[in-house]
Amino acid sequence: MNILITGGAGFIGSNLVLHWVKQHPEDTVINFDCLTYAGNLINLKEIENAPNYHFVKGDLRNPQDIASAFQKHEVEGVVHLAAESHVDRSIAGPSAFIQTNIMGTFNLLEVARDFWKEDLAAHRFHHVSTDEVYGSLGETGMFSETTPYAPNSPYSASKASSDHLVRAYHHTYGFNTTTSNCSNNYGPLHFPEKLIPLVIKNAIERKPIPVYGDGSNVRDWLYVKDHCSAIDVIYHQGVSGETYNVGGLNEWKNIDIVRTICRHLDDVLQRSGDDSCLNLITFVKDRPGHDQRYAIDASKIQNDLNWNPQYTFEQGLHETVDWYLDNQEWVRLVTSGEYQAYYAEQYGR
Ligand code: NAD
Ligand code: TYD
Repeated sequence: MNILITGGAGFIGSNLVLHWVKQHPEDTVINFDCLTYAGNLINLKEIENAPNYHFVKGDLRNPQDIASAFQKHEVEGVVHLAAESHVDRSIAGPSAFIQTNIMGTFNLLEVARDFWKEDLAAHRFHHVSTDEVYGSLGETGMFSETTPYAPNSPYSASKASSDHLVRAYHHTYGFNTTTSNCSNNYGPLHFPEKLIPLVIKNAIERKPIPVYGDGSNVRDWLYVKDHCSAIDVIYHQGVSGETYNVGGLNEWKNIDIVRTICRHLDDVLQRSGDDSCLNLITFVKDRPGHDQRYAIDASKIQNDLNWNPQYTFEQGLHETVDWYLDNQEWVRLVTSGEYQAYYAEQYGR
């Protein structure tokens, strides 16, 4: 099968492309990505010459880019991850979120509808989404697949909208869709603007670690490789038209996770006393509209598709911290204009 993975140069996308190229050598993976600040081909160095992997620089905001990729690579299935993904950026500037997450998903669905019109049901379209579409929880309860949508940020509103479009294409046109709504991911190749990689980066560099508000907000963390295995299972075994929540029953208050990372880095880097990473923690002004708590009930994917996370949080977090310690050059490159300029020149239009 020729599978188009959108957003394959981003955090989850590159972990998924690496997973798919190795686990499914019978498939050809076409990575469709426009390489925003969050998309980095350096993530995929180890498979860039694999016979079953192709990169296409294309923008979901441009239907012609999508149609060319479908035509050239005879796309038979889609796993859609490309998105603007950072809540803080969506607060500062929502426009790109509307253009890519809503219009981009619409463009992708329309091109697929045209190319697959002879037999829409024969082509799987898997849409990767977030638990943030369900809004915010109080101290108790969990999100299930039947929780009403109540997105609170421009990011989550744009993802909710894309979920609804995918749902509508299933019901109206008979698209063979599945959607996954996953909790917060962490792991290697995570752009250092989100909480966990930012804490690790700043701690290593002895910079202030910003904690929003009082640090009591709760997130439910899943190792990215477990998310990839869930997407794989849903793509291959999920029932058309269904949505699946993905999570690992791993809730943490932000301040507790930040302190855990600091203590682990203190051990590894042999820092203590005044030099402890804990001293870098700095409480800063809260994010506007900050969702208090997310928690995922993943019993549907566990019961129906027999998926379970394979990593404990301790394993995943230690692997992640080790990865950032071993890959400080990656952090330097992806946060530098020099690197972005190099790829703009290589793949620029
Ligand atoms: P990311 O920001 O790291 O990567 C996004 C990728 O999409 C980048 O490679 C970027 O270049 C590409 N992209 C952006 N706009 C594009 C466009 N117009 N055309 C083509 N490519 C474009 O994001 P991520 O954290 O890997 O998230 C991937 C998906 O998973 C998103 O849909 C996100 O909503 C969803 N998700 C993320 C998390 C999480 O914790 N990160 C949790 C649940 C769901
Ligand atoms: P983030 O990684 O941005 O993911 P999301 O907002 O999609 O859940 O943030 C995770 C949590 O950490 C969230 O409650 C906001 C908080 N946070 C901080 O306290 N400091 C930071 O510098 C960042 C980026 C996030």
